[in-house]
Amino acid sequence: MESFLIKGGVPLHGEVTISGAKNAALPIMAATLLTSEPCVIRHVPNLSDVRFMGRILTWLGAKVSIEAGTVRVQAKKIKGQGDYDLVRKMRGSICIMGPLLGRLKQARVSLPGGCTIGPRPINLHLKGFEALGAKITIEAGYVQAAAKRLAGSTMFLGGRAGSTVLGTANVMMAATLAEGVTVIESAACEPEVVDLAKFLNAMGAKISGAGSPTITITGVKELHGAEHEVIPDRIEAATYAIAAAATNGEVTLKGARADHLHAVIDKLHEAGVAVKRQGTNLVVRRKGRLKSSDVTTLPYSGFPTDVQAQMMALMTLAPGLSIITERIFESRFMHVSELARLGADIEIEGPSAIVKGGRPLSGAPVMASDLRASAALVVAGLAANGTTQVNRVYHIDRGYENIDGKLRQLGARIQRVEES
Ligand code: EPZ
Repeated sequence: MESFLIKGGVPLHGEVTISGAKNAALPIMAATLLTSEPCVIRHVPNLSDVRFMGRILTWLGAKVSIEAGTVRVQAKKIKGQGDYDLVRKMRGSICIMGPLLGRLKQARVSLPGGCTIGPRPINLHLKGFEALGAKITIEAGYVQAAAKRLAGSTMFLGGRAGSTVLGTANVMMAATLAEGVTVIESAACEPEVVDLAKFLNAMGAKISGAGSPTITITGVKELHGAEHEVIPDRIEAATYAIAAAATNGEVTLKGARADHLHAVIDKLHEAGVAVKRQGTNLVVRRKGRLKSSDVTTLPYSGFPTDVQAQMMALMTLAPGLSIITERIFESRFMHVSELARLGADIEIEGPSAIVKGGRPLSGAPVMASDLRASAALVVAGLAANGTTQVNRVYHIDRGYENIDGKLRQLGARIQRVEES
């Protein structure tokens, strides 16, 4: 397994190009199952999760090619069942269920199970499928949805933590081919859901309200092929912005969309970090000493849970107390114990982590766990004195395209090595 060796203390300077959004690309790739015609998806990030989704589509019978950031898919004839192992290994692949149900009126995938950040239930996905007329059965670790016909209906998809991103995506995709009108109340408003709706409408779907808590889908007979360019990855952009702030550098985020980052920009401003628009880029630099700041994660347009770990790493450098409260996932504090190895002083109190910041971090060997926790460890390592070894970086390669190459371009001393 590979590790990153990071010699910290170097302010990052220069330009970094933001890749296409992983969390938009995955459901959009799944949506190509809704038509037998060819689809072309551009600005797709070169990530293991994207290649994995390509394998799942191929396994289902689609013709898939992925090269130089463009994914071409033609799902002429497909099976309605996802391979147990493939779907179980990547939670995001649950979003093949909606298109399979829409196209074939039946879908059978392995229950995604949990991951390091929490149990990851799919009850709201299934509630939406049932509202469209599907019968749900669970056996031998598979969940199956089947219907003679899908009929549009009005449904409420809010759960214990508010809206569900992939639940909204799944039900919206199935509803494109249902008879009649579907209204999803308490729909997720994330930009990735808006991007998916844009692709579906390009395929001939009739969707309105994406980006608001109420999405209306008028079913059509069939969908045709389409081309699409994926939005930039707001989580990747936020991660590099925080790395620039943590190292007291100045970085231009090329292609980042400020309108997808209001909550993050607001919090960075509060923490003493300037984020300025410059055409289609964002320029990030510290405005002096970092200031402690409280953060609570919420569904969009609140502060994104996928930036919580990285923000916590930054707050370890800000003198004073910062309270980071995670309201979306049950156990998304895996990075706390690893940040402590670098000298951070953090106490967990229920859903909150109390960060006593201001003491310099010192490099040490740390273990990556989930994708964003790993990114937080890289950010901390870049700011720490001495050398930090981040192990099991395959977690990071799932969601960050060429992160070590991009950071080296910004002056970071980071090497990818075989884990010793
Ligand atoms: C998407 O996951 C993202 N993944 C996650 O990003 C992101 O953290 C999450 O949305 C929240 O923004 C992809 O888009 C591939 P949810 P998703 O359904 O859709 C509960 C990353 O790092 N819930 O919005 O699976 C759930 O337990 C990943 O890129 C139910 O209770 O998340 C959680 O507490 C990590 N029942 C909350 O809702 C359900 O049926 C939000 O989950 C579904 C979800």
